[in-house]
Amino acid sequence: MGDAVAQVEARFNEEIDSVSDAEMLEAFRVRWFGDKAGLINKGVASWVRELPRELKPVFGKQFKNFAGGVERTLNERRFEIERGKDFHSSSQLQSSNLDLSLPGIRRSVGVEHPLTRTMREMVAVFAALGYSVGVGPEVETDFYNFEALNFPPNHPARDTQDTLVVADQESKPLRERYLMRTHTSPVQIRSMVANDPPLRLVIPGKVHRNDESDATHSPIFHQVEGLCVDRGITFSDLKGTLDHAMKAFFGSSVKTRFFPSFFPFTEPSADVQISCPFCGGNGCRKCKWSGWIELLGCGMVDPAVFQAVDARRVENGLAPAFDVPGISGFAFGMGVERIAMMKYGVGDIGQFYSGDLRFLDQFL
Ligand code: PHE
Repeated sequence: MGDAVAQVEARFNEEIDSVSDAEMLEAFRVRWFGDKAGLINKGVASWVRELPRELKPVFGKQFKNFAGGVERTLNERRFEIERGKDFHSSSQLQSSNLDLSLPGIRRSVGVEHPLTRTMREMVAVFAALGYSVGVGPEVETDFYNFEALNFPPNHPARDTQDTLVVADQESKPLRERYLMRTHTSPVQIRSMVANDPPLRLVIPGKVHRNDESDATHSPIFHQVEGLCVDRGITFSDLKGTLDHAMKAFFGSSVKTRFFPSFFPFTEPSADVQISCPFCGGNGCRKCKWSGWIELLGCGMVDPAVFQAVDARRVENGLAPAFDVPGISGFAFGMGVERIAMMKYGVGDIGQFYSGDLRFLDQFL
């Protein structure tokens, strides 16, 4: 009797050794452990029927040991196959689901958006000069966005800003009406109203204009603004600061040049060009073959701005501090998208806002 069980066991072991995948394992399980036709159940049934009564308990015990053992063996085999662990031969390797030639799972690491990076790098240049970072609201009042910056009501300079105004405010005085800020310059006013000079501020932020979207325009874009107010600040401080900043940002070989311009809140005003950092001024696609790239607007703070600031300070119960002899300052502002497009060779501003990973992946 014991021999019979041992023989069955040997056969079982031989067969299970050749089981190499889940399909074979299932066939094996049905053959041996199947409810009706399985060898174990069938075997038990037929053998037990033929045994003399007194042998039945002994045989039962032996068979129970065997059946318990083989069930464990079967489960172990199943575990090995599921884990793809047990490869006795290359044919087993091929028939398994594991393909070692597939590339691994790469987890992409998040990085700064190119616009955020450009803003941060620009801010860092001024932070190194002792500037602190200023911020202000994107929904602004007419007073901060225009009036205090010397854009009087109905002045044609307002037309250049393509303002998006908040509707249904006609019952309010003009200076209290809300609009989407058209530039970061209102933060100059807010900062001067709240703080005494000296002030050195760099102001990164989002601005809004009623501009049609095209390859170089977007109704929402970003600026980095600067303001420096102290005793005896002159135009040469402005030139020196911006020349240094452009060299720090674009490389020490870039040159700057200043052209007369107009902004209501600076007098005199200038537009600044830098020699093309890509071709060294020889002319290339990025500088449209001119060797120069126009980058920012700037100027000396107009006295009318200091007057408006002090008037608001007095309304707020503070002493006037800016429209006083000896105090002067400069301001500048630049478009972040323009700089980033140039720096990274981006031809369409819309790419920055698309959220398309095929575009953004390039900045990893
Ligand atoms: N605010 C101006 C603009 O948006 C730029 C500027 C800022 C010019 C500060 C001079 C000084 O066009």
